[in-house]
Amino acid sequence: MTQPFLKIENLTQRYPDGQGGEMTVFENASFGVEKGEFVCILGHSGCGKSTIMNILAGLSEPTSGVVKMDGFEVSGPSLDRGVVFQNYSLMPWLSALRNVTFAVAARHPDWPKAKVVEHSKQYLSMVGLDGDAIRRKPSQLSGGMRQRVSIARAFANHPKLLLLDEPFGALDALTRGTIQDELLKIWGGTEQTVFMITHDIDEAILLADRILLMTNGPYARVAESVEITIPRPRNRTSIIEHPNYYKIRNHLVHFLGIRSKELAGKQADGPQAPQTVRIEEPAQPNPEPRAPLRAVNE
Ligand SMILES: Nc1ncnc2c1ncn2[C@@H]1O[C@H](COP(=O)(O)OP(=O)(O)OP(=O)(O)O)[C@@H](O)[C@H]1O
Ligand SMILES: [Mg+2]
Repeated sequence: MTQPFLKIENLTQRYPDGQGGEMTVFENASFGVEKGEFVCILGHSGCGKSTIMNILAGLSEPTSGVVKMDGFEVSGPSLDRGVVFQNYSLMPWLSALRNVTFAVAARHPDWPKAKVVEHSKQYLSMVGLDGDAIRRKPSQLSGGMRQRVSIARAFANHPKLLLLDEPFGALDALTRGTIQDELLKIWGGTEQTVFMITHDIDEAILLADRILLMTNGPYARVAESVEITIPRPRNRTSIIEHPNYYKIRNHLVHFLGIRSKELAGKQADGPQAPQTVRIEEPAQPNPEPRAPLRAVNE
């Protein structure tokens, strides 16, 4: 069997519980992500989503288990993995443009300055930032603009894996919608592999090829992998008309509302691979055979 691009094997994370004991966030979590796939992970607050993402980014080490990307074990951060955090994490003393050029120059030390600037401007413009705005420092930009800068910065570096931790969490619904559309546009053109955390069910259905569902912690599990059987290109207005949309949405709401709690706290025995869920509207029955056409003079 071929190996997925990103392979998570028996990932376990335990932390001291502050009372001399241990708390197991998740145990033996195992799943894969294919190259070019857009995967969202949904789960309640505290179940361990950011912990998983930080491990994938190489920013923290799990208690046990292995993450492999392209067959190589992830150990430590790398420019091959771009991260967009919820709090933007821009360098406050640099302009929007310099925040991007800084990263691009680090990735391409051999590029002349003009090429670095041109490349960075191209990505800023893709997320709708140009002109005067890119000369401003983060404190002089709106939250939505800052978020665009961090998305442009991550995409400009063409990381093999893009990790997004609730990147739109702090945005108002309107800006959020615009940036989601932009993200889809950029992603569609790059075939980038994306792993994204979100709390927003509709956002996940719009963006993802597959949604991983996590149960509540401790001993959280990536219990299901729900395929989004809605063809692309998608947009926010058209997907709600697709016959699979509400079925998928209801399944996710039910999982987060009820099953995430029912399945919570159960200790695993052995590797925990998510169960694949594919929700499809049954094919329409064949229409009644039409009456044969009659000859006009019959
Ligand atoms: N460094 C740490 N030390 C101890 N416990 C930690 C540490 N980091 C995270 N935790 C605990 O691990 C659990 C998972 O945290 P994590 O940040 O991964 O949750 P999350 O799913 O991202 O939640 P949210 O949706 O609120 O961002 C929580 O119970 C948290 O308190
Ligand atoms: Mg988190």
